[in-house]
Amino acid sequence: MSVPSGAGAAEFGEGGRSRREIVRGEGGALFDASGRRFVDLGATHGVNNLGHCHPEVVRAIRTQAAELIHLGSGYANPVRSAFVEKLLGLLPPSFGRVFLSNSGTEAVEAAIKIARSATGRPKVVAARRGFHGRTLGALSATWRRELREPFEPLVPEFVHVPFNDPSALEAAVDERTALVLLEPVQGEGGVHVARPEYLRAARAACSRAGALLGFDEVQCGLGRTGRRFAFEHAGVVPDVLALAKSLAGGVPIGATVTTPEIEQRFRGSHRSTFGGNPLSCAAGLAALEVLERDRLTERAARLGEVARPRLAELPPEKVREVRGLGLIWGVELRENAAPVLAGLERRGFLAISAGATVVRLLPALVIEEGDWADGLTALAEAVGDG
Ligand SMILES: Cc1ncc(COP(=O)(O)O)c(C=O)c1O
Repeated sequence: MSVPSGAGAAEFGEGGRSRREIVRGEGGALFDASGRRFVDLGATHGVNNLGHCHPEVVRAIRTQAAELIHLGSGYANPVRSAFVEKLLGLLPPSFGRVFLSNSGTEAVEAAIKIARSATGRPKVVAARRGFHGRTLGALSATWRRELREPFEPLVPEFVHVPFNDPSALEAAVDERTALVLLEPVQGEGGVHVARPEYLRAARAACSRAGALLGFDEVQCGLGRTGRRFAFEHAGVVPDVLALAKSLAGGVPIGATVTTPEIEQRFRGSHRSTFGGNPLSCAAGLAALEVLERDRLTERAARLGEVARPRLAELPPEKVREVRGLGLIWGVELRENAAPVLAGLERRGFLAISAGATVVRLLPALVIEEGDWADGLTALAEAVGDG
């Protein structure tokens, strides 16, 4: 969102922003109208973990589109059932319920509503630098002031505590707390990895206070960190889990996963017209099958270890810190990230930022090994420019 564009046809909030036109995607790469190839080091904000237009996802969409695109949640559908079963089969056995929606912010919104309703409590504890989406509930859990301020007053009873500080978290969780909502790896906030003991302390504080522990793995889940779910690194199982982005191989989807016990305590109703539509479920089923069959989680872990020493070599006079694991990395610069992103783009690599000074690397888990190595070289060159 920026300055309005004034006259002429334009998308809301995109005025004045010049964007490269992209017309095609294949695997880990995007192509402009002239046919120039760019390696997508941002996986279009973490959506295209399987790369662009994965043939099996495309096939599933085509087949399903000819069969049944939309069906209200009042009817059963075998594709939706198969997808739900597949997703729950990847999760720890405590999870047995999933609410399907269309985006990350909706997945978080549902987590907040489930927690407030099931506990009968109002308070949500989130972390500084956290990002959870832009609808009013999810935005209330989001930290960045400039995203929040124009829309205030936001939803009451949301508090933010410093990330990776167990004592501050423990002090904030009390008998009025419905939900502690954390990203095991903060993405938009600059790629900050939760320490395992922090997540364990969050688990203990929630269990002690009768609050629900919610993890937002919209960006870091589904293989990206080198484990199927990022919470596996800490061995901590949440009560509610939000997923989206890559879950349906590029088709809009959101999923909020929880337990049957929590469902039993839920009062009221929460629904979505398009949530769980057969088209996104068919794409999701194909995407999860590819993720598992092609062992993309293990691949992310391996390519992350290729990156680690290369990123550690970046010059400290230009780079303040490098953080990450698997295929989610943040390179925090001493200056603005924009010139480095431009330098990468000139070299044929599209990366994204996370805040003003962090270059974020979030490539497809299927990125070709040569492209990944070349991308790391291009990054070193772009950091060295100027
Ligand atoms: C951790 C996290 N949660 C929620 C969201 C919101 O997802 P969406 O843009 O699909 O609403 C994002 C988006 O970047 C995210 O990274």
